[in-house]
Amino acid sequence: MNELRQRVANEVAKAVVGLDDVIDGILMAVVSGGHILLEGPPGTAKTLAARAVSRCLGLEFTRIQFTPDMLPSDITGTMALSGDSLRFRPGPLFSGAVLADEINRTPPKTQAALLEAMQERSVTVDGTSHPLPDPFVVVATQNPIEYEGTYPLPEAQLDRFMMKLDVDYPTENEEIAIADLERVGLSDAAVETIVNVTSVQEILDTRSRLDAVRVEDKVTAYAVRLVRHTRSLPSVELGASPRATVHLLAAAKAWALLQARDFVTPDDVHDQASLVLSHRLVMTADAAIDRYNPADAVKAALTAVPVPK
Ligand SMILES: Nc1ncnc2c1ncn2[C@@H]1O[C@H](COP(=O)(O)OP(=O)(O)OP(=O)(O)O)[C@@H](O)[C@H]1O
Ligand SMILES: [Mg+2]
Repeated sequence: MNELRQRVANEVAKAVVGLDDVIDGILMAVVSGGHILLEGPPGTAKTLAARAVSRCLGLEFTRIQFTPDMLPSDITGTMALSGDSLRFRPGPLFSGAVLADEINRTPPKTQAALLEAMQERSVTVDGTSHPLPDPFVVVATQNPIEYEGTYPLPEAQLDRFMMKLDVDYPTENEEIAIADLERVGLSDAAVETIVNVTSVQEILDTRSRLDAVRVEDKVTAYAVRLVRHTRSLPSVELGASPRATVHLLAAAKAWALLQARDFVTPDDVHDQASLVLSHRLVMTADAAIDRYNPADAVKAALTAVPVPK
């Protein structure tokens, strides 16, 4: 998979400067069947990166801009008259890669429809279940400075995302490289030149290889201890769930594969923990007042739980 990773990285680099961890993260999610949450300020290429990666993975890409007046059926689809019979008309969720932009802007009912589809990999309308494509990946964005007047996702739902990746402002040199990219007016011309460098079959084959990645008992035990430790921290009101353990080990396996290894090391678990755990933690009111945040709590767990030798 490190060879696939290289192909993807080279292709995406035509249009996107930096953001290596976002590109790796989306690839890891596609391969393991997880979903990604991106958090970062506006204009930092969250949309562009998701579009570029889907394009080079050959996945159909749709972008759903979430708004306060959106209904669940606007994303899942509805029954519509076709001739004189009612037929299911699939919504924008029926796509290999879905960019769910600003999920915190839509009311809970519509958020729930998205998260349910992510989990079930199908959509049920009028009692009939319609399977979503495979591979199917949701990349959702939240904008951290715009929380006011929005509908923050309950942690129980954030738990469905395999990883949360933070997107930061570029360095000065990166920003110069961004400015120098080919454009037509304001629009990114380079992204149109990205070609598909893989196939659905290769993605599914990589998933089988992921399942075969070996995890020693002591590594599993380490992941379990880390997750359980988040539940016992005094600053944390709600710790990470057993689902988080499953996601952490899947991320560690995908990460190992990206490094061309067929076994997980304790360091893989250690390195993925901050990406996999922090968005699942609910801090106590006191911790929040002290600006002690979930990332700090994950760091505390990483310090407290010894890495097995
Ligand atoms: N790292 C980057 N590489 C290439 N282009 C970039 C990069 N960062 C910003 N840009 C430029 O800025 C534009 C804005 O990016 P994009 O629309 O993807 O941002 P966003 O993070 O999705 O913003 P928003 O939160 O407002 O949706 C891109 O289309 C591109 O022209
Ligand atoms: Mg965007």
